[in-house]
Amino acid sequence: MNPFKYGSIVLGKNFCGRKDLLKQIAAHMEASQNIVVIGERRIGKSSLVYEAVRKLKGTDILYMDLLGIKSVDALCKRMLRAIVTLEKKASWTAKIIQTLAYLRPTISVDPITSMPVVTFDASVELKADSIQEVLDLIESLAQKKRFMVVFDEFQDILKIKEADEAIALLRSKIQFHSNIPYVFVGSIRHKMDEIFISPNSAFFKSAIPITLDPLPVEEFSKFLIKKFESGKRKVLPDTLTHVFNIANNVTGDIQQLCEVLWEVTSVNDAVSPDNLKAALELIFTREQKSYEAFVSLLTDFQFKCLSALARESGKSVYSMDFVKAVGLHSTASVNRAITRMIDINILFKSGKEIRFVNPFFKAWLLPRGR
Ligand SMILES: Nc1ncnc2c1ncn2[C@@H]1O[C@H](COP(=O)(O)OP(=O)(O)OP(=O)(O)O)[C@@H](O)[C@H]1O
Ligand SMILES: [Mg+2]
Repeated sequence: MNPFKYGSIVLGKNFCGRKDLLKQIAAHMEASQNIVVIGERRIGKSSLVYEAVRKLKGTDILYMDLLGIKSVDALCKRMLRAIVTLEKKASWTAKIIQTLAYLRPTISVDPITSMPVVTFDASVELKADSIQEVLDLIESLAQKKRFMVVFDEFQDILKIKEADEAIALLRSKIQFHSNIPYVFVGSIRHKMDEIFISPNSAFFKSAIPITLDPLPVEEFSKFLIKKFESGKRKVLPDTLTHVFNIANNVTGDIQQLCEVLWEVTSVNDAVSPDNLKAALELIFTREQKSYEAFVSLLTDFQFKCLSALARESGKSVYSMDFVKAVGLHSTASVNRAITRMIDINILFKSGKEIRFVNPFFKAWLLPRGR
């Protein structure tokens, strides 16, 4: 069986390293100290938080993913669903139904997962005051059991129309929940900074920041080599250096590339840099449709900028060299093209550099650029 896992949370023997951070998070959890975990996409944020909770036996996790939320109504309903999933006891279910009677909740059991699911009357829309009601519910639950509250993809709260109000209401309750550790996890650095580091924000300095960097190359390499060895594959020198480079050191992308390297090799094979072409081709075959969908969203000029960026990565896109590489256009039009591609999640800003969200899309684009 292919030992490489990507795209989902990894725990236990599938979780490599991060010993210091696990210890730090455990200590913060025990002190009910709120933290904010910030890192790139697919670097391992969710896994880190889940692994920390798993190691602290007896602690539960109230997990809410805010990815893509657009309204206060959706925010509250997601929080309520998480509460119902955490506390399955009948007495609690009755309490939730009682508190939220005006929402006409119905609770059923998912036949596949056997987990309770709550549905609400779709015609009743929750407003900002419900945020506080939901947080009161969390507080009363915390009097009965120990758990950590995790808001994943927290930066998406900024997409809500009443974002400022929602953030202020959350903060005003959370600051009194001194026995509950809250963890805010987020990907897009400058957006998380807006919430936690900007002096004007309600959450200013309210949580200890933990920044997640790539796993150390040596430690992660050893872990990956062992996985290959479990299927009697020997990894030749340099192979992983190429893998780490192509994946830009991003944990999840490295595992994805190893997953296909495994697929294109067999027992007793040496895994060498020569296998990388076939491995990448396998990723391209699987992801081709989404690459084409991305390209179809772009104008000719945007595509030109993207191809130039794939070729000239590392160079400042605002330099005259780059502007020349894409033809006779002004810095302003390059700027607009790049901004658009950041908006539709093809590119992202990492410090001063503009990078591809998906490094394999970049590799696919290279021979196809004009
Ligand atoms: N400590 C780790 N050891 C080994 N692999 C890891 C580790 N952390 C993350 N990964 C790899 O990265 C992938 C993504 O992990 P995870 O979902 O935790 O990251 P994330 O930063 O929360 O991602 P996203 O930005 O998509 O929410 C995992 O499926 C796994 O392949
Ligand atoms: Mg995540």
